[in-house]
Amino acid sequence: MRTTIQSIRTAYEAGERFAMVTAYDYTSAQFVDRSSVPLILVGDSLGMVVQGNDSTLPVTVDDMIYHTRMVVRGNSNALVVGDLPFGVTAIDDDAVRAAVRLMQQGGCQSVKLEGGTSVAALIRRLVDVGIPVMGHVGFTPQSVHALGTRVQGRDEANARRILEDALAVQEAGAWAVVLELVPAELAAAITERLSIPTIGIGAGAGCSGQVQVWHDLLGLYEDFVPRHARRFRSLGAETVAALDEYAAAVSDGSFPGPENASTMDAATLARALD
Ligand code: KIV
Ligand code: NA
Repeated sequence: MRTTIQSIRTAYEAGERFAMVTAYDYTSAQFVDRSSVPLILVGDSLGMVVQGNDSTLPVTVDDMIYHTRMVVRGNSNALVVGDLPFGVTAIDDDAVRAAVRLMQQGGCQSVKLEGGTSVAALIRRLVDVGIPVMGHVGFTPQSVHALGTRVQGRDEANARRILEDALAVQEAGAWAVVLELVPAELAAAITERLSIPTIGIGAGAGCSGQVQVWHDLLGLYEDFVPRHARRFRSLGAETVAALDEYAAAVSDGSFPGPENASTMDAATLARALD
């Protein structure tokens, strides 16, 4: 049975912390299905870790639908949340249309969008048409050119603004909110004041849940390892080792072995070549 917003709500009310992970394709979604992680984010971070861009800004609604569809096909247990990409939330009608497509064509169960008070009315509108919304405040990567990649809310005014953003998102009807790159103390205080789950990334252990990027936690992405990420495995190094062993085995003739090939009867071959 697929995780529901209600079951996350129940875990939250019981004080249980929960994990969320990004996934971008069928195979990774299948791995999540075999794991105990109950929440998948098809994040627009795919613009960086899958597409190789230096920010999330180039990601389109069509890209998000394409990846969300693959993830949904590979997973039947996790609640799948799809990101609304850069630009579409600037115009409410565009955002509603994009969110409907992401749910209808992508098949996710919720959307996520960046911003606080400035997107509260939009969140309300989405919730009103039956689209569950996850908020995202603090450092919002789609505003990287305005904010720079850095911890948000270190000073009094900004800390207050992030709390207000989180409250606005909750008030607008979001069922959860991501807190990204905010000091642990602030994230814990926001979590305490909210009555919906907070999902932290670079926000300390005081959040209701955590979210990590697939490539970061598996140690696949070598270009840049953010401080907030823990590499639970080094599958990047493992992958390169596998590729090197494959190349060596081809070169020394040990691959393919007899078990990797099919055979035919020598007499039949002789007649065919005659
Ligand atoms: O796109 C993404 O992966 C995200 C998470 C970092 C929260 O938005
Ligand atoms: Na994102």
